[in-house]
Amino acid sequence: MKATSLGIGYSLPDNILSNLDLEKMVNTSDSWIVERTGIRERRIVGSGIKNSDLSAEAARLALQDAGIDPLQLDLIIVGTATPDMPFPSTACIIQSLLGAKNAAAFDLQAGCTGFIYALSVAEKFLLSPEYNYVLVVGCDIVSSVIDYTDRDTCILFGDGAGAMVLGKSPGENGILATSLGAEGAGAGLLYMPAGGSALPATSETVEKRLHYLRMSGNDIFKFATKIIPEVSEELLRKTGLTYADIDIFVPHQANLRIIQSATRRMKFPMDKVVINLDTCGNISAGSIPVALAQYNEENPIKRGANILMVAFGTGLTYGGAILRWGKD
Ligand code: ACO
Repeated sequence: MKATSLGIGYSLPDNILSNLDLEKMVNTSDSWIVERTGIRERRIVGSGIKNSDLSAEAARLALQDAGIDPLQLDLIIVGTATPDMPFPSTACIIQSLLGAKNAAAFDLQAGCTGFIYALSVAEKFLLSPEYNYVLVVGCDIVSSVIDYTDRDTCILFGDGAGAMVLGKSPGENGILATSLGAEGAGAGLLYMPAGGSALPATSETVEKRLHYLRMSGNDIFKFATKIIPEVSEELLRKTGLTYADIDIFVPHQANLRIIQSATRRMKFPMDKVVINLDTCGNISAGSIPVALAQYNEENPIKRGANILMVAFGTGLTYGGAILRWGKD
């Protein structure tokens, strides 16, 4: 028995923030951003739109795709670093919005690796006889923690949510392997200084702009290009597959140059790599599920296709999964 995807969905905000818009906000250019990152535009929520709004919409679509009633859900896990508020969890808020009153609910914080971590946790629950249906959401409203006067970071990120309903599959299809890891020594490479118990919000923390994401871009770049091949190879070892067996690779959508450099090291063909960062930027925990769901919408994934997914993010966290598409 394996845990498998029964349905997926995604939700993106309507507002587009283009490179040309950013040119008017900070000292940058469309050509610099495209050349260094591959990003052309990203979606940004309008005021009043929350994580739970996008998460619930993506979840409804995934439930519809799976043909599962919200009351059948045993568990909801939301991977996010930008919940509606520090507490209660966004998972509890969407449990109520969906009417999934039989489901336990919690958020999981692993930055951009949030969806992969949540997927792996969901798999472990599904391997137990007590849990039959689990909803996993990856959602971030990264614009809520971005300093739009900082050109180093504001060009990279966008908002969005992706969701997957998982259930049990008796045969060959489903999650073949997952791999999770963390390098806590790199915690200072991507962080938000204030707003937690270390530095609660005061007028001074706001004045000093400490409620925004800070990032050492070059260090993360190097980490990412090393860790993507490492996680991929670990997953191949666990499954006995080779790169030739992988039909679709969905990497975390942080920077096209990171993906190109990693796939060069892996000797993996770019025509099997799903890219949506040109229109979505980096949606953090929403990145992989949105990219996968958009891909599936345009090119319905064939039953039995082997999908490799690998992410990295604040923490530093990293992880991946190989999912054989469909239910037996
Ligand atoms: N527009 C124009 N110029 C810029 C910009 C900008 N937006 N940003 C930086 N520059 C300048 C720099 O000041 C520098 O100028 P200098 O040479 O005069 O000093 C020059 O461009 C080169 O800067 P680098 O930082 O070396 O540029 P690089 O090619 O490394 O790209 C980037 C920077 C895009 C941030 C890259 O390092 C990157 O993508 N890193 C990974 C970031 C990432 O993935 N973060 C998400 C992690 S996942 C999560 O959990 C959220």
